[in-house]
Amino acid sequence: EKQAMPTITVIEFSGQDHTIDVQSGMSLMENVVASGVPGIDADCGGAGACGTCHCFLAEDFQAVAGEADPMEESMLGMRPDRADSSRLSCQVQVSDDMDGMVVRLPEYQM
Ligand code: FES
Repeated sequence: EKQAMPTITVIEFSGQDHTIDVQSGMSLMENVVASGVPGIDADCGGAGACGTCHCFLAEDFQAVAGEADPMEESMLGMRPDRADSSRLSCQVQVSDDMDGMVVRLPEYQM
C-alpha cells in the first residue's frame, strides 16, 4: 500500500506558515520552491554555490537531515544570519523520516 506523502511545515520570516506535501528523494529546496512558498531564491539551482536557499531546521530533525559538508559549511559561513540550525535547503535530501519537520526561512536571501 502506498504511504501518504510526508508533510513539512515551512514558516516564512513573517510568521506565515504553510504545511506542504513533500516528495522524498528531492531536495528540501526543490520541494519548497515547487510548493510556491516564497522566501527561497535558489539562484544557483541547487549546486550549493549561492547560499540563497538558506533555512533553519527544527532541532529535532537536524540529525535526520545529516551534517553539512565542508562546501555547505563555507557557504553558510558567509551568511550574517547563520545559526546552529542553518542549512542550505538544496543540500538537504527529503526523506519519509522528515514527516512533520518544521523549517523556518530567514528574513532575506542574499
Ligand atoms: Fe544555491 Fe542552494 S540553491 S546554494
